[in-house]
Amino acid sequence: MKKLLLMVGLSILALQAQEFNAPMQTYMQALSLEAKNTDSTFNGFDAKRGETLFQSKHMGKKGVEISCTTCHTINLKNNGQNVNTNKSILPLAPSVNTGRLSDVKEVEKWLRRNFNDVLNREGTAREKGDVLSYIITQ
Ligand code: HEC
Repeated sequence: MKKLLLMVGLSILALQAQEFNAPMQTYMQALSLEAKNTDSTFNGFDAKRGETLFQSKHMGKKGVEISCTTCHTINLKNNGQNVNTNKSILPLAPSVNTGRLSDVKEVEKWLRRNFNDVLNREGTAREKGDVLSYIITQ
């Protein structure tokens, strides 16, 4: 019985949605304002749109097809691998790697680099907000 209760408790924990910490919420609000300023029809970030973007393939700056999943894999709970350096990357999913999406500076730095790797340009406020909304659910 104790074991069963523990299992129920753990699965409730696992079902709880992850939330952004306070600095990340402020960052998301800034992205949201910026998105609204460039597009008056913008009405909020969309995790589904973020997922589609995360999985979409582009001709990267090296002339080879690349997507966010190339390094982070399709399942964000798994380890990934940096295809440029062959170094392994810990999971992006905050549910298994609690340090993720907790440090605005780190997030901004990697989004800038990674969007450049994949799209040959920086992400727009909407694109960044959408992928972060997707990653936080993982
Ligand atoms: C060429 C490989 C590569 C590609 C492609 C790539 N990433 Fe990354 N990403 C990395 C590496 C390396 C790090 C930093 C190492 C780490 O945090 O484990 C990182 C870190 C991140 C982080 C920081 C998370 C945190 O809070 O620590 C985010 C967010 C992220 N990537 C999102 C993306 C998105 C969105 C895309 C697609 C636009 C993408 N990545 C494509 C290699 C890549």
